[in-house]
Amino acid sequence: MLFSIKFALSFEPVINSAINKNLNMLKISAMWCGIYAILDCFFLLIVKYIKENILKETFVNLKNHLFTKILKFNTEAFNEFNTGTYISILDNDVKLLGDSYYNNILSLYNVIVSFIFSFITVFFLNYTITIILIMVAVSSIIIPKFFDIKLANLQEKYSENMKRYTSQIKDFFDGFQVIKSFNIQDKIIRSNAKLNKIREKSGCEARKTVYLAGWISMLFSSAMYVITYVIGGYFAIIGAISVGLVISLSQLIGGVVAPLEQVPAILAEINSTLKIRNKLEQIINKKVHEEKGQDLRDLPLEVLIKNISFNYKNSEVMALNNINMKFKEGKQYAIVGESGSGKSTIAKLLLNFYKYNNGEIKINDIEISKIDSSYLYKTIGYIHQNIFLFDETLKNNITLYNKYSDKEIMDVIEASGLSEFIKRLPKGLNTNVGENGSIFSGGERQRIGIARALICKAKFLILDEATSSLDNITANEINNSVLSLQDTSTIVITHQLSYNLLSKCDYIYVMKNGRIIEEGSLEELIDNKLYFYNLYNVNEKYII
Ligand SMILES: Nc1ncnc2c1ncn2[C@@H]1O[C@H](COP(=O)(O)OP(=O)(O)OP(=O)(O)O)[C@@H](O)[C@H]1O
Ligand SMILES: [Mg+2]
Repeated sequence: MLFSIKFALSFEPVINSAINKNLNMLKISAMWCGIYAILDCFFLLIVKYIKENILKETFVNLKNHLFTKILKFNTEAFNEFNTGTYISILDNDVKLLGDSYYNNILSLYNVIVSFIFSFITVFFLNYTITIILIMVAVSSIIIPKFFDIKLANLQEKYSENMKRYTSQIKDFFDGFQVIKSFNIQDKIIRSNAKLNKIREKSGCEARKTVYLAGWISMLFSSAMYVITYVIGGYFAIIGAISVGLVISLSQLIGGVVAPLEQVPAILAEINSTLKIRNKLEQIINKKVHEEKGQDLRDLPLEVLIKNISFNYKNSEVMALNNINMKFKEGKQYAIVGESGSGKSTIAKLLLNFYKYNNGEIKINDIEISKIDSSYLYKTIGYIHQNIFLFDETLKNNITLYNKYSDKEIMDVIEASGLSEFIKRLPKGLNTNVGENGSIFSGGERQRIGIARALICKAKFLILDEATSSLDNITANEINNSVLSLQDTSTIVITHQLSYNLLSKCDYIYVMKNGRIIEEGSLEELIDNKLYFYNLYNVNEKYII
């Protein structure tokens, strides 16, 4: 800053020596003018580098903070937005905040310092000019204030449209196969083009308003230059100041005017991010359950579901109605029932993914919400209906980045029927599985999911339709190996009522419309000759 003031003041001797036709003085003053110009530019470069480094750190920290917070949400909180929204927040909103908030906060410091120094210098050189400049400056700050609210709304609209666009694009790419197989490309292209246009239009409106605020400031700054030259010229005529000083003053006015020109636009942009900042703060301040609970691993376990009723937040229909179940360590269980009867919902409640409305779920008399989540997930393993694979090696997808011995890995590969399949892969366990395991069949993905759950050695293992994509022979082999695992109680969720599978279970719960309508051993249920018996008869005709 000091150098730019020195640079501005160094014009005075240059101009004055030219007017006085003093060549020697011109040479010396020109040399100093050059030195200050170089120092000033060099300083600007350093400031820019420092600013970029600060911005980089801010971006990294903010994105890490948001990502960590989102990953700590429980399933219910996470489901409040779709994944596209989170991607948009981490990508678009953070960028918008970087450009319009952090960048401008740093610029604001810069221009304020520049303004104060230049202003003080001008004041000491000529206070009349300074007082007139203050009057113009104040109006240049006040007028663009009227743009603040409009800009905040425009920025919020832009962020909202970016979010919709990103969510939609993600949805379309996730559903690529569906789009192809139902030949709806044209519809999708049209829908994408429409949203794309809306997004860019709102971006364009926001940018135009920012520019308008800046443009008004520009008008005021031009007025300031005119005032400086006219009044400075007058003082030069009456001999109060030299012509060289008028030129130096006009250069210094740049340090006063430029900030004034920029400040309203900077403030307008900073204020425009208010709603986006509130949105991000909402995520950052969201309460996550991090209570430390008990370790359950070494006790003989009993899971008790008592009078549980539950409906999903976005649905009025009760997914579960007054459910009572008991699972004891060492026994094998099955939950059967038609599609939509609530089987997977029970598994999700057991894993504390959602808060239930009524009743209680306890493991050894401890409410599951009081159990530390890391212990809970070690106690209850869950093989999801839809296996998600990370774009990583097969080995990392099974171990999920935890350390296991080669023997442990080979054992679960064997139990989940993957040995032959892995032998055929050129890179074996080190094969990359592609995005969500795109290079594998549905059945292969299921077997990887089974291996992933088995390796954790949970006391209870929930297999949610875990073998539904497999042929009957492979499915039987895997069910046999899982159900014969020592130290593991399996809860098989299925709508395939095969004798082979159910005869290995000690107890079966039969569900319909969110209720348990029958329960007992396979023999008892067959003897009852009720709902289960009818379903079972139909199934057994088709399934080995
Ligand atoms: N995230 C959700 N939001 C709202 N409703 C849901 C959600 N997940 C499931 N449901 C509803 O809850 C009910 C029970 O679903 P659930 O997934 O437990 O059934 P299921 O017995 O596992 O069925 P399937 O055999 O088809 O897997 C269904 O009516 C379903 O539409
Ligand atoms: Mg299900």
